[in-house]
Amino acid sequence: MAPVATTDNVTSNGTDIASLKEAAKVFNPFYSPSAGDDNDGNYEFAKYKPSFPDVKWEPLKEQSVTDRGLFADPEKKSLFAAATKVQHLTPAIGTEIIGIDLRQLTNQQKDELALLVAERGAVFFRDQEINIHEQLELARHFGPLHKHATTGVPREPGLEEVHVVYNDGSRRPDPSAFSKLELWHSDVTYEIQPPSTTSLKVITGPPYGGDTLWSSGYALYSSFSPGFQKYLEGLTAVHSAVAQADGSRAAGHTVRREAVETIHPVVRVHPVTGWKSIYVNPGFTRRIVGVPKAESDTILNLLFHQISENPDFQVRFRWEPNSIAFWDNRVVTHSATFDFWPHTRHALRATPHGERPTSVAEYEKQGKVAKDRQLEIWAQQGISGFQQNGQAKPRGYND
Ligand code: SIN
Repeated sequence: MAPVATTDNVTSNGTDIASLKEAAKVFNPFYSPSAGDDNDGNYEFAKYKPSFPDVKWEPLKEQSVTDRGLFADPEKKSLFAAATKVQHLTPAIGTEIIGIDLRQLTNQQKDELALLVAERGAVFFRDQEINIHEQLELARHFGPLHKHATTGVPREPGLEEVHVVYNDGSRRPDPSAFSKLELWHSDVTYEIQPPSTTSLKVITGPPYGGDTLWSSGYALYSSFSPGFQKYLEGLTAVHSAVAQADGSRAAGHTVRREAVETIHPVVRVHPVTGWKSIYVNPGFTRRIVGVPKAESDTILNLLFHQISENPDFQVRFRWEPNSIAFWDNRVVTHSATFDFWPHTRHALRATPHGERPTSVAEYEKQGKVAKDRQLEIWAQQGISGFQQNGQAKPRGYND
């Protein structure tokens, strides 16, 4: 169990905050990985603090991936029967499941979890004793595991597939180095097969703060008019690892695999749900291919601002130690908050590769029809089509 802060003058591990203010280095939380240097010799998870091995890996090659959600019971009876409560957190995104021990899941329940995460974007569990080896094993059920080229891996050997998220009182986020918008990202979208059903477990957290927000790419797609949706479906965009690699070198770390830039469709279709999702993010998407720069900047700016600012697409999760979140990186974008300095926040991520992103045209070439999630929900409720009759007048809802 993680220690809890007792007063506003000391951190969760008892360090005097005034002395930290003197010593803390400022940092950009996105491109400047933490080396975990508060030198707390008694910290129980010291073996999972980040390390930066001086090794070199070959470029990634395409590999075959079959989505486990394809094998799931659409009603997820086996998974839900094991839970005491299944609570949707917003209409668009996020579900919390209570009463399940992730270490006990059968393969059938794992498949149903993959489907639920694909549909709901993010799924949360609390009080999970699952250790990092078991978390990796569960993640391997969803796909071959990604090894990050730059961010920290645990000091304990043999855990190179783990991405360590670590911040403590020795480094203070520098508000002049980044905007909140830039922190929104989907993980490593520059890879040829970016991640699918990703999991993150918080092992030590601040007494409050350090929440994570996720924003639904399905809901973002559904929010646009048919003409604009069609326009976006024809576009591709460049995703780049270069800034992250540069940040890592600047921090004195080895870039373990050379930075890549990859072109992906702006609208991708989820292979299991068949729903269309906007697939760009402020962290890694640099430009739309084949359109004037002003147009690319304007379109990306609109999409980035909608991701980060539209609360109807979002869910915000308040972590406790031993909380674990699963999210489908193909259909959501996320951002952690950095409001918890000088407390420690430490989490471990397992990141399976998904398929190479599929455009609407590629998906429909297979004889299937890609769908708009919101239209499908409305159809189930007996409402048809996009309603825009030109009569709408601006209205304020503020009071
Ligand atoms: C991540 O980007 O995978 C980490 C998110 C978080 O720290 O909440």
